[in-house]
Amino acid sequence: MSITTLLKTRYPLIQGGMANIATAEFAASVANAGALGLIGAGGMNASRLREEIRRAKELTQGSFGVNLMLMNPEVDEMADIVVEEGVRFVTTGAGNPGKYMAKWKEAGIVVMPVVPSVALAKRMERLGADALIVEGCEAGGHIGELTTMALVPQVAQAVSIPVIAAGGIASNRQVAASFCLGAVGVQVGTCLLASQECPIHENYKQAVLKAKDTDTIVTGRIGGTPVRILKNKMAKQYVAKEKEGASREELEVYTLGSLRKAVFEGNVDEGSLMAGQVSGMVHEIRPVAKIIAELFEGVDHVLEEAKDVYNNSK
Ligand SMILES: Cc1cc2nc3c(=O)[nH]c(=O)nc-3n(C[C@H](O)[C@H](O)[C@H](O)COP(=O)(O)O)c2cc1C
Repeated sequence: MSITTLLKTRYPLIQGGMANIATAEFAASVANAGALGLIGAGGMNASRLREEIRRAKELTQGSFGVNLMLMNPEVDEMADIVVEEGVRFVTTGAGNPGKYMAKWKEAGIVVMPVVPSVALAKRMERLGADALIVEGCEAGGHIGELTTMALVPQVAQAVSIPVIAAGGIASNRQVAASFCLGAVGVQVGTCLLASQECPIHENYKQAVLKAKDTDTIVTGRIGGTPVRILKNKMAKQYVAKEKEGASREELEVYTLGSLRKAVFEGNVDEGSLMAGQVSGMVHEIRPVAKIIAELFEGVDHVLEEAKDVYNNSK
């Protein structure tokens, strides 16, 4: 079965479920553009998730699902809500979805965990995952250690379920590269931050547009919860304190509510502006449908060109 048949989409693309950002409206705009839209349940409580799912159903006939962060305190309830509401796609992050797998499979839900390593990929395949979102550390938000380039082929070789590449994809060249690495589709986050429909504060969007290739930084590397964000005052202070050996409590002063500060208040100095390394190639705010269509425009040409380059190198 092709990935677009599995996802019931026109494009082999999943919108990353971004906590506090990926609302029903945003997910529906992606679904209406022919890709899989996700409601990011990370920053929600259970009753809000149910409302968002119901709103998404009203807004689109296309494919949408839910991204569940497994450390969410209400995740048990949320795991039931996706079944009760007839959600067809669930992606999971930050933990092991094993205890929900039987009921989700029984409900016919397509389950796609996000994985940062071969070991976790194999474990998720054994648990019955339908596909894997294999995310490299170029990505915005919470990340693992390995790059997309190194990780995707290793996972693709180790499992027999479909692999979807994530992290560092914002152009047709990177989509083409993902296919070369063994993926059958892609998940993107950062390039969709710069969309007309993305509900983040205008200051956040402008910061993404302004960012250069080297303008992201990883906070929490030492403490074990690495997060890629745009460099700003908060990020620099955080990393400096981290290097001095500050305690978790001292560091929390910087990150407490910081994503909300960025998303809702547009506080570009103290907010956590999660974004990936491809921020440097995002230069304008466009409609979601245009961003997605352009990611796939000319992919075959890029692959042909690569073939010519290779043949000429011999
Ligand atoms: C602002 C932001 C918030 C994110 N929040 C989540 C989240 O709540 N859950 C999740 O699984 N992934 C999250 N991610 C990761 C995305 O789902 C996606 O895998 C990633 O953005 C892909 O890499 P890219 O940023 O290079 O496009 C987030 C990414 C960004 C940029």
